[in-house]
Amino acid sequence: MEIKQKIIELTEQINQANYDYHTLDQPTISDYEYDQKLQELIQLEIKYPEYKQPNSPTDKIGGVVLDQFEKVEHQEPMMSLSNVFNMDELVLFDERIRKIIPEYSYITELKIDGLAISLVYENGIFKQAATRGDGLVGEDVTENVKTLKRLPHVLKHPISLEVRGEIYMSHKSFNRLNEQRMEDDLPLFANPRNAAAGTIRQLDSSIVAKRNLDIFVYQIVGLEHQIHSQHEALNYLKELGFPVNPNHHLVTTVEELKKQIETYDTLRKKLNYETDGVVIKVNEFALHQKIGWTVKHPKWATAYKFPAEQVLTKLKDITFQIGRTGVVTPVAELEPVIISGSRVSRATLHNEDYIKTKDIRIGDMVKVHKAGEIIPKVLEVDLSYRKQQQPFVMITKCPFCHHPLVRKPGEADYYCINDDCPAKHINQLIHFASRQAMDIDTLGEKVVEMLHELGFLNTIADIYTLHEYENDLKGLPGFGERKVEKLLQAIENSKQQPFDRLLFGLGIKLVGAKVARTLAIHYLSMDALKQATVTDLVEIDEIGDMIAQSVVTYFQKPEHLELIENLKTYGLTMTFEKPYVVQHAFNDKTFVLTGKLENYTRDEAKRMIENLGGRVSSSVSKQTDFVLAGSDAGSKLKKAQELGVPILTETEFKVKING
Ligand code: IVH
Repeated sequence: MEIKQKIIELTEQINQANYDYHTLDQPTISDYEYDQKLQELIQLEIKYPEYKQPNSPTDKIGGVVLDQFEKVEHQEPMMSLSNVFNMDELVLFDERIRKIIPEYSYITELKIDGLAISLVYENGIFKQAATRGDGLVGEDVTENVKTLKRLPHVLKHPISLEVRGEIYMSHKSFNRLNEQRMEDDLPLFANPRNAAAGTIRQLDSSIVAKRNLDIFVYQIVGLEHQIHSQHEALNYLKELGFPVNPNHHLVTTVEELKKQIETYDTLRKKLNYETDGVVIKVNEFALHQKIGWTVKHPKWATAYKFPAEQVLTKLKDITFQIGRTGVVTPVAELEPVIISGSRVSRATLHNEDYIKTKDIRIGDMVKVHKAGEIIPKVLEVDLSYRKQQQPFVMITKCPFCHHPLVRKPGEADYYCINDDCPAKHINQLIHFASRQAMDIDTLGEKVVEMLHELGFLNTIADIYTLHEYENDLKGLPGFGERKVEKLLQAIENSKQQPFDRLLFGLGIKLVGAKVARTLAIHYLSMDALKQATVTDLVEIDEIGDMIAQSVVTYFQKPEHLELIENLKTYGLTMTFEKPYVVQHAFNDKTFVLTGKLENYTRDEAKRMIENLGGRVSSSVSKQTDFVLAGSDAGSKLKKAQELGVPILTETEFKVKING
């Protein structure tokens, strides 16, 4: 088939599959088939960029445009802001501007933590709301935005304009929503931003209306002849009837900026909505043209990001969790507190050393924050509250099977090494069936726990003999005929999952989804991987000693080899099928990357090579087919020259990619 035609066809098929999945909630093709098609399209688009379709689904990986909402092309791209994380970086930002223009003022605004929205008014009447999407094309969420109580549907003056702002959820609405979800046994939203973004994507606008979203408007698109500064713009927006955040201030020096940021940092803790920084913009519009833009953001503005919020609370108890590899992790049970808008009652304590180094004791008052704003972490003890709390003593037996715990030399973690530990088995089964692994979606946490308790499931292999108990299962409470059939069908389908997913599902220590894929690409089959030595494994880019050791140890255990043999007899996929159809010069070739690349990150270059059937290795040898050398390449380049391995510059690499 003609290439262009093939690209169009794949684009349509994948878009249709996305629609069936996201909008209709009725998948029409398997995840495997979907991945194959997507990979094939990515590959063809790399080779034939001229045929890439404007609605290509590959553009939507990140910044997804769901098909249930109409797409809206923005009149002007919706850009993002650069970030600064401390005062030194802020000074540098200021110096860059001062080099271009000597005299100007800044306007500071609170950075509201929600999602950006564009609003179009015609003759003063609200017409359309669109999300940011990928910055160029967003989603039409007009019906949902109409439900925002403070948004004016008619402006004070009958003018036509586009404005932009931030939709957010207040702490109060967020907490109420999560409490309700907890009651309904639904997954909780991690923070108000996620809750707002999830809500605006609801198809039923009556749900949106109940959730009380709110908005602040901060930008007018166009109208530069009539409005000359951001300060004027904010005043005019207010005059038109928009909700404008009252916290904005004009400043002229960096010192004033610093003071203003400190004031905002105190203020924000009292606000009923989440802010994650201060936006600093050059006030005068005429100067924006002079300072300019990068492809992603304006150079005349930046966001000063606040450090993650820390809160003091009481450590009520230390409990323990067990993972699929048997590692036992201490968990802090806290007096519930609200951090960055969400309720925190548990936090990780990592391991014994972490607790001992920080001398964390049950009954202490501890400082907690959210790392990456989602996973809470205990930072330190406030010793001024310390009374008679006793030093922490690590448990010596598994809390689930009472087998003695083992701390391996050189590791901080304690392990339950009992191969029959029920808690370990349950976690292995849950992991194996999870979405990122074998995706047996009828086999969730609750079902696994129940089938394990009743003795139907003990090890992973038992999943594939479950059909022998079909009649017993149908008699279980909550397991009607249809549910059992669905479960068995999902198990049957999972046999088709690609090899790398199976590898990930086995739960080998340190082998996450990405490492599993790398291993699959390099070894192509379970049989080959089983034979790998540590020396072979560390040759692969991104595989270090620890991972290599863990893989080798896994395959040394007879019970693991038996499990794999069993899975093989049940018909699971034990070889990696490359998802490419087009032949390419990189197929089966081994690359080593060295030096600094101009146009891609290392990860991007690696992905391109792998998408075209190649591998990336960490050291140069006779087996290396190409070395891709960026600037400042050192010893690897030298070695390649010595061995006579072909060396590609970035430009040559690019030419080869395009065939
Ligand atoms: S001005 C060119 N002002 O932060 C972008 N943005 O990373 C102009 N935001 O996408 C944005 N509060 O969603 C601006 N007072 C504020 C803001 C604000 C929140 C968000 C907005 C934007 C993101 C920037």
